[in-house]
Amino acid sequence: MVGAGYVGLVTGACLADFGHSVVCVDKDAERIDRLNNGIIPIFEPGLDALVKTNREAGRLRFSTELGPAVNGADAVFIAVGTPSRRGDGYADLTFVYEAAREIAASLDDYTLVVTKSTVPVGTGDEIEDIIRSSRPDADFAVVSNPEFLREGAAIEDFKHPNRIVVGTDEVRARLLMEEIYRPLFLNQSPIVFTDRRTSELIKYAANAFLATKITFINEIADLCETVGADVQDVARGIGLDNRIGNKFLHPGPGYGGSCFPKDTAALIKTGETYGVPLRVVTTVAEVNQRRKRAMADRVAAALGGSVKGKTIAILGLTFKPNTDDMRESPALDIIAALEQLGAKVRAYDPAGMDAARPLLPAITYAVDPYDCATDADALVIVTEWEAFRALNLQRLKSALRQPIIVDLRNIYPPAEMRARGFVYRSIGRSTRDARRDGGDSYSGVETDGLVVEGSGLSERRGLKKEATT
Ligand SMILES: NC(=O)c1ccc[n+]([C@@H]2O[C@H](COP(=O)([O-])OP(=O)(O)OC[C@H]3O[C@@H](n4cnc5c(N)ncnc54)[C@H](O)[C@@H]3O)[C@@H](O)[C@H]2O)c1
Repeated sequence: MVGAGYVGLVTGACLADFGHSVVCVDKDAERIDRLNNGIIPIFEPGLDALVKTNREAGRLRFSTELGPAVNGADAVFIAVGTPSRRGDGYADLTFVYEAAREIAASLDDYTLVVTKSTVPVGTGDEIEDIIRSSRPDADFAVVSNPEFLREGAAIEDFKHPNRIVVGTDEVRARLLMEEIYRPLFLNQSPIVFTDRRTSELIKYAANAFLATKITFINEIADLCETVGADVQDVARGIGLDNRIGNKFLHPGPGYGGSCFPKDTAALIKTGETYGVPLRVVTTVAEVNQRRKRAMADRVAAALGGSVKGKTIAILGLTFKPNTDDMRESPALDIIAALEQLGAKVRAYDPAGMDAARPLLPAITYAVDPYDCATDADALVIVTEWEAFRALNLQRLKSALRQPIIVDLRNIYPPAEMRARGFVYRSIGRSTRDARRDGGDSYSGVETDGLVVEGSGLSERRGLKKEATT
């Protein structure tokens, strides 16, 4: 396994758990050192136990030396990063090409070179050329096998995938891939065999489609707020249609993470390269980017129009729960925008603060949600960690300078929050809930769940009624 990051480490550990003998190789000596000392360098639930069991059983090893690992291997997986190339958004394949050259040097008997990294159409051909040109004698096949695991549920996803995609035209390669994934075959996980280029494109099409679904419901959420509809019910109402499906219909601050932003950008570039503009995906990427920063305006609106000089508490920094991954997290854009608007930011995240510190050096880091909320003018829920779903609301309210919560993940019921005296803003859940409550705090003003009356809080705290989103 070349690359011991999120994908390489999880894939390596899971393949070892299937009974295969696996060596995970990484250039990062410190990472390998930690792994050899039983320390898992990433946060991924269940991974520490899986690595431990398989290391102890002698099936999983870690090394910085690629040569000896390739020598004698039946298959070499490339699981290195493919970030966005600076400036143009195309996938940066430097690490992939470098891995291909290094693998070529150590090939001996027939070997599968399996691309697990997400790579643009045609990369398999290039890997084959790189290896062939330096080792015309080598007996090998380059196979595409994109990964679909989700960080935070990676082991479950790897072991119970919706599907496995394998791109190769060679029978021998196909048989070996079947052998590698046999335990999943036995679990009846569907395997899609196709050609290499199609397999490469499947990965990008899947991510672009999911990004589109998220962006679609986000725009519908904005419309809900304006027309007085409820996006949660819209999502349910459309999601129950099997043709649509209920996944990825949760409105929020915009997608982020290590995959969607870079993969949509790379797919758009592929379209441009081949003269086939991908207009839907292009729009999705633009809308999403704008949305992330626009979340800061929502916070300002909840505070009466300005965050200048205010302290904003941010709960959740990672791009989703159960990971420490900060790559392209919406929190980065939201916090940058809040700082630009003159706010002071204090943040708490259960797992992401170490990764966040170098990216967000100017903010203060709290030790828990209540510490984060202390004397803040508003609390913003950015990531829906489980630990944020059942906060002690009384404690939170006493800690805050003003009981204002902007919930960008819709994890609390608006009616309950209002009843507890919070000024509560969420996404796409408009006035309907207030009307359903019997209008105890509903003033007739179109708001997205803002407490305006009833508790008397608004008057006491001098908060303005407003109809903004
Ligand atoms: N993270 C995800 O959720 C996810 C899901 C599906 C697919 N992918 C794709 O998988 C690939 C890997 O993503 P990741 O998140 O695991 O990346 P990552 O940055 O966490 O890990 C990549 C690792 O590869 C190592 N590396 C780079 N060049 C090397 C070389 N020549 N030899 C040895 N090690 C080398 C790096 O040191 C790093 O540890 C990407 O193409 C990504 O798009 C990621």
